[in-house]
Amino acid sequence: MELVFATNNPHKLRELQQLLGDEIHLLSLKDIGCDDEVPENQQTLEGNAAEKSFFIFEKYGYNCFADDTGLEIDALDGEPGVYSARYAGEEKSAEANMAKVLEKMKGITNRKARFRTVISLVIDGKENQFEGFVEGEILREKRGTEGFGYDPIFQPDGISQSFAEMNSEQKNQLSHRGRAVQKLVRYLKSLNLTL
Ligand code: IMP
Repeated sequence: MELVFATNNPHKLRELQQLLGDEIHLLSLKDIGCDDEVPENQQTLEGNAAEKSFFIFEKYGYNCFADDTGLEIDALDGEPGVYSARYAGEEKSAEANMAKVLEKMKGITNRKARFRTVISLVIDGKENQFEGFVEGEILREKRGTEGFGYDPIFQPDGISQSFAEMNSEQKNQLSHRGRAVQKLVRYLKSLNLTL
């Protein structure tokens, strides 16, 4: 089965392809000739994921899934949350975003945070959502060089490495996105489609 993954992020495409294996023929936005700015104007991860997947389904006619992820920090009342990508400004700089988090978290002892992903899958116009999350803490300084985004300052509970100190396979096993994708794959298999 062909499925569009509504993203332009090459890191995520690579991660997803690893998770899906050969079972699903994944198409990128580029593969379907979409160079639109896919809209994500909602106030929640659930709303943004649905807005993206329905946009592709309605405009391009492909079955599609889209994800939206946020880093939710308890001591910052859930910030940066749905604004994770542009927390420090429209240029979406990972370095600036991490610097802003570390600055705001100075002197704060409650470091509890989670990454949460919501996937919206639209098949023939019908939507299903899948959630994955990983609990952890915000480190006091950056550690590691793998991954992307906030990986160097996030350490999952029960593990002594930041996400940026793991290889992609290790991270996929326990990550928010990995967990949401596992639910997505289980669901697709249960539909008894030819994958
Ligand atoms: P998106 O919805 O997947 O585009 O994620 C929004 C933002 O959250 C990204 O721009 C990153 O800053 C951050 N983010 C998402 N997933 C991850 C991850 O696995 N590690 C670190 N940061 C992430």
